[in-house]
Amino acid sequence: MSALAVSHVYPLGSRLNERGRLEVGGCDVVELAAEFGTPAYVYAEDDMRARARTFLEAFRARTEHFEVIYAGKAFPCTAVFRLFAEEGLSADVASGGELHLALAAGMDPARLYMHGNNKSPAELDYAIERGVGHVVVDSFDEIERLRGRSQRVLLRVTPGIEPSTHSYIQTGQVDSKFGFQLDEVERAVAACADAGLELRGLHAHIGSQILDVEVFGRLGELLAGIGDWPLLNLGGGLGIAYTADDDPPSIEDYVEALVRHAPDDVAVLCEPGRALVGNAGVTLYRVGTIKRIQDVRTYVAVDGGMSDNLRPMLYGARYEAEIADRFGGGTLSTIAGMHCESGDVLIRDVELNDPRVGDVLVVPATGAYSHSMANNYNAVPRPPVIFCRDGEAREVVRRETYEDLTLRDQ
Ligand code: LLP
Repeated sequence: MSALAVSHVYPLGSRLNERGRLEVGGCDVVELAAEFGTPAYVYAEDDMRARARTFLEAFRARTEHFEVIYAGKAFPCTAVFRLFAEEGLSADVASGGELHLALAAGMDPARLYMHGNNKSPAELDYAIERGVGHVVVDSFDEIERLRGRSQRVLLRVTPGIEPSTHSYIQTGQVDSKFGFQLDEVERAVAACADAGLELRGLHAHIGSQILDVEVFGRLGELLAGIGDWPLLNLGGGLGIAYTADDDPPSIEDYVEALVRHAPDDVAVLCEPGRALVGNAGVTLYRVGTIKRIQDVRTYVAVDGGMSDNLRPMLYGARYEAEIADRFGGGTLSTIAGMHCESGDVLIRDVELNDPRVGDVLVVPATGAYSHSMANNYNAVPRPPVIFCRDGEAREVVRRETYEDLTLRDQ
């Protein structure tokens, strides 16, 4: 068989090799499964680097004043913070823990943005002591907590814009726990001044997995009209393709919408998470059992599930899957996890090519919010993270062990 391209859902540079097996970052995933075990998160390093460069180039073509800030929550680990720092990106961190990871990766604290609707005094102290560039202030209570710290800040506002996406990941609507209402901005600006904070601009993040970039144009127009600040941070939210039918907007179109209404001397900031890492990663599983229920359904059970990818259960998120060395359809299958509940279904009704026990199953587009939302349900150790590049694979996060599971028990 000759080498074949795979759909845009897979990491850039992926292909089916001469043996008909998926290759990510030049590595044969069947071999990766044998070497590192399953489940495993496998990333093409060049995919993430290429997307970072596309963001930077799209901005550079339109403005001198911008900053691309990686939203670390999408995939927080030191290796990826380091990778994006090398590419010239800043980062946003949403907790003391994410801050710890970014600092451990050697990121310049001045290039960090600290988020959160309820940052604790300890988290704020940690951020300020380590020299975090900007704290994105979310409430009047937080302004009081920061009194006298002469910190650079942005004000997070909820602009009343509701993009079409799952309600759990809409954040710009009036009824939101995040940020200041528009009619509170004037009072918040005064409160920042009174508390001795250096206010540098407004911030809004209206939601995630957004497939219509026009809302970002509207957002930019709205925020640019409120006050006169050096920075305008329009958050993250650009959607990606999860299945081959999905056709998300390009990074260029997204950036064009972001800068469209910004005054020339204002720096436009954005915080992409999913769009930088989502399609760079795939999850490898091993098929363990197959249950055929006559005239009902075929369950193909794998060795992971809701502990390594919560998104199908939490948001009804749709994924696709293939047998790693036999792409193609033929057998309507439901991919079940190994957890002790019936809701542990990764994909309902997906076509696989004659699934067999022992096969490596690959689920693409798991690069964002899988590792970051992984958990230990049923005391299942969390998977490793493998970075692949030019045919070389390296484990950047090792698999959890049973010993790790008892490490905190006293
Ligand atoms: N900036 C802020 C302030 C955010 O809250 C978020 C995401 C981002 C940037 C990055 O958004 P992105 O570009 O990745 O859409 N767990 C959910 C996604 C939650 C997103 C929360 N905030 C999921 O798995 O779909």
